[in-house]
Amino acid sequence: MTKAKRQMQEDMKLIDLVIELLDARVPLSSRNPDIDQIAGSKARLVLLNKADMADPLVTEQWNRFFLEQGLNVCVINSKNPSDVKKINAEVQKACAAKIERDRRRGIKNRPVRAMVVGIPNVGKSTFINTYARKAATKTGNKPGVTKGKQWIRLGTNLELLDTPGILWPKFEDQEVGLKLALIGSIKDEIMNTEELSLELIKMLNRRYPDLISNYYGLSGIDYDKYPGKPEVAEMEAVGTARGALMKGGEIDYLKTANILLENFRNAKLGRLSLEEPEQVSETEKS
Ligand code: G4P
Repeated sequence: MTKAKRQMQEDMKLIDLVIELLDARVPLSSRNPDIDQIAGSKARLVLLNKADMADPLVTEQWNRFFLEQGLNVCVINSKNPSDVKKINAEVQKACAAKIERDRRRGIKNRPVRAMVVGIPNVGKSTFINTYARKAATKTGNKPGVTKGKQWIRLGTNLELLDTPGILWPKFEDQEVGLKLALIGSIKDEIMNTEELSLELIKMLNRRYPDLISNYYGLSGIDYDKYPGKPEVAEMEAVGTARGALMKGGEIDYLKTANILLENFRNAKLGRLSLEEPEQVSETEKS
């Protein structure tokens, strides 16, 4: 077992609630399926983070998808303090059983203790920092709490462990690996940048036809040059439109790929999602 996993299992003993951050653009691909086993019987709250960069209609479908699975879920942008605050109501819902148990034992207002978990780059530190900036107090070493642990308390209801649990990205098929590379959760080196950006064009074309040509103002794309590979023709057109050329006037594919990836990653291309719940049920059916 890795040190990080062991640490997380130790931390699990200290908490009532697991707050699982997912990237709203790829909620399933950014999920580590082992979380069920790691969280055990702890209460759970799923946060669809980076919702400001995801397609709002698709995010709503995901919200319903997780609700139907019996999970508590909240759609947020971790950079936005009022969004972070809005999780409080969901925390109360997720921990209703514990709160009721406390009440029956005569314990009043004992805060829920929670830990944030997720794969790299989903926004765990951002969420904790935004939360901490709003929080009135940071509480230090408490009896029964491992030395060095810091809890951040917001109001009387919730204490958050200041270090997140880092889950490892998991992908059995290449499509998931691609999506994780596109959102920056695994290094681009999984495949070369040019191929990654071609896959991005393909994924976007399936969901958002014309987006690339409208955004980059492409016209007269020479599709005949690359039969069956429209994404290559489009990438070339993007390179030309953006002046990403090498000395002899040839397209600089690496530069073009970086432009495409950056424009997707900082949402310049718009609020886009790369997977939908319908696809999931279709895959499960087949
Ligand atoms: P991690 O701890 O899970 O590894 O992720 P981290 O908080 O470091 O966030 C990774 C990147 O995602 C950061 O951008 C962060 O600002 C951004 N981010 C996190 N949550 C949200 C969100 O809800 N919406 C948006 N739009 N971005 C979010 P960065 O480029 O690495 O850093 P910076 O440019 O913010 O300095």
